[in-house]
Amino acid sequence: MNTDPFEQFKARQRETWTLGNFGDMAVFTTPVAGHLVRYAGVTGGSAVLDVGTGTGVVAITARRIGAKVTGLDLTPALLAQARASAALADLNDIAWHEGDAEALPFPDDCFDVVLSQFGHMFAPRPEVAVAEMLRVLKPGGTLAFATWPGEQLIGRQFSLIAKYVLPPPGVASPIQWGDVGVVRQRLGGSVKGLHMERGIMAIPALSPKHFRLFQEAKAGPFVRTVQALQQDPARLAAWRNEMDEVLGEYLHDNVVRHEYLLTRAIKV
Ligand SMILES: C[S@@+](CC[C@H](N)C(=O)[O-])C[C@H]1O[C@@H](n2cnc3c(N)ncnc32)[C@H](O)[C@@H]1O
Repeated sequence: MNTDPFEQFKARQRETWTLGNFGDMAVFTTPVAGHLVRYAGVTGGSAVLDVGTGTGVVAITARRIGAKVTGLDLTPALLAQARASAALADLNDIAWHEGDAEALPFPDDCFDVVLSQFGHMFAPRPEVAVAEMLRVLKPGGTLAFATWPGEQLIGRQFSLIAKYVLPPPGVASPIQWGDVGVVRQRLGGSVKGLHMERGIMAIPALSPKHFRLFQEAKAGPFVRTVQALQQDPARLAAWRNEMDEVLGEYLHDNVVRHEYLLTRAIKV
């Protein structure tokens, strides 16, 4: 067994994202993929890498407009779904790689565009992941990613998860990637033309509880939290109450609306 705590964390991440069925959740990340690919300026012929591709929504979107696409993810079960999804759209030439954002298996300066939609934010060492993404990007190429702001729904839900189930020491919180100042500092002088904008994810739901149960059934980190709190029903109930309270703030007219952050920058 690997005793490196970061490798252990990633092995656990791989298990986490296998739980539930992220494919059902990816119905709602699909419109964000359209936004991100357009925002990044992907064109036909661009060599594009999608880091943390999951079921491949960003990779497939980029391929549909003619880019030459590589999708990489830590979780083989999701890559299998990505492959099947691409085949459904008759796109059989996307290169799918099982791999880690912190150790990209590609040479320096080989992609025109490097993307990550709610993916690289889960790497435990942000400085390592961003250095890797910039390493494989050509000078003058575009880095663009979608992340969750800490003060918005998913950011607040991740904080609630961390409040009830302590994260391992030394692992950066994924929602720091949703903080404009932190993003600016992490990209630093390696990029120019830094630009950010927000978009809204909209998910139909009849009540906070309907939506929470959907997340608990489909999305690995939520499935994992319920598993972790199962032995302590009072604590599980308290977590669920807090989750429903937060969710209620975003549910209007039977739609949960919440913001994501897009970042774009050019490698110098
Ligand atoms: C919220 S999902 C996003 C999937 C997809 N990009 C989307 O928007 O639908 C997060 C993804 O990041 C992947 N992931 C987590 N840590 C990773 C790492 N260190 N390297 C590569 N992928 C990672 C997970 O396996 C999962 O597929």
